[in-house]
Amino acid sequence: MPHDFMPGLAGVPAAKSAISDVDGTRGILEYRGIRVEELCQHSSFLETSYLLLFGRLPNATELTQWVNDVTHHRRIKFRIVDLLKVMPEHGHPMDALQAAVAALGMFYPGRNVKDVENNYWSAVRLIAKLPTIVAAWARLRRGDEYIPPRDDLPFADNFLYMLTENTPHPLWSEVFDDCLILHAEHTMNASTFAGMVTASTLADPYTMVASSIGALKGPLHGGANEEVVMMLREIGTPAQAKPAVEARLQGKNKLMGFGHRVYKVKDPRATVLQELCMRLFNVCGTSPLYEVAVAVEQLAGERLKDKGIYPNVDFYSGIIYDKMGIEVDLFTPLFAMARVSGWLAHWLEQLRENKLYRPDQIYSGEHNRQYVPIDRR
Ligand code: ACO
Repeated sequence: MPHDFMPGLAGVPAAKSAISDVDGTRGILEYRGIRVEELCQHSSFLETSYLLLFGRLPNATELTQWVNDVTHHRRIKFRIVDLLKVMPEHGHPMDALQAAVAALGMFYPGRNVKDVENNYWSAVRLIAKLPTIVAAWARLRRGDEYIPPRDDLPFADNFLYMLTENTPHPLWSEVFDDCLILHAEHTMNASTFAGMVTASTLADPYTMVASSIGALKGPLHGGANEEVVMMLREIGTPAQAKPAVEARLQGKNKLMGFGHRVYKVKDPRATVLQELCMRLFNVCGTSPLYEVAVAVEQLAGERLKDKGIYPNVDFYSGIIYDKMGIEVDLFTPLFAMARVSGWLAHWLEQLRENKLYRPDQIYSGEHNRQYVPIDRR
């Protein structure tokens, strides 16, 4: 049956899902029917992960059990640490994360994806261990010792501790936890789809997550948060925003952190992230990048609103991480640490009625060509 070809599968449903929903014209994002703003206000990243994976908010006993399970699986094997030690220190952290996650699967041999209990523990391990890998890599690459997780610290606090060796200011943990909630899930995006294609072959979840990490890395997707901060640093001051934005747009270059396949208004996550910037700056002082970002958003609003181009999730997140002293190339790994919940939720949902992804193509090549021997080419 002939179908219309939709480049980038734009608007083509690839699955039925009850995990999250985006209203791109009203700027609404819901996880399991609950608005992300409400989750940021009342929930935690781990409670939100439970909601995404299992379809409902946990009761108190379930939440305690879930948090305990994740907390007690944060450690990584010394061989994963050794693996990170031998990687080139100038390599990108997303590559280190992808390799380490793929390698994790070699340590947990129960790879039968029809085993529900095993799937639960795979999900626990992946959510628990990604932050440990990211923090370990950040330290090992500059010659510092790996800091093991501390069971007495909540999820966000523990990550910031493993990264810096200091227990963070409570506001930092709160803001960071909200950032994780905002990045945890987002319908059928490129990295989720990449993972679902891999998972549809019944490959194990470590391989599935490694595929998603690869897709998230690109600058058109999660990698944009790095590019935003580099762009804002390059612009330098609010006064330079106008010529810089004009030069970019006239050169047909995209403004990083702007535009979205689904949102035609400001991404609701960008609005919350901007509020988080303000909360952080009220206590820790402002950031020069923020002043530039506000100027860029205003100019972009004037120039691009007819195309429905507004800030997306990547526009303000990096400013928060930068203020916390986190290195720019770790921003996309932070995204992965959160989004792994969404990837796993889609994996569990898809397994219930799995069908191998095997789309069609429209062949545009030739037929019936003759093989030409090399001496006659
Ligand atoms: N800056 C300037 N113009 C833009 C931008 C932008 N950031 N984004 C889109 N446009 C323009 C395009 O130039 C194009 O204009 P034209 O019709 O005059 O040629 C039009 O808007 C449509 O753009 P496409 O790239 O075709 O739209 P698509 O839906 O494929 O792109 C995407 C979505 C990839 C996110 C795009 O907006 C982009 O490249 N943004 C910058 C990178 C970025 O921030 N990515 C993160 C997205 S959020 C996430 O993945 C987590």
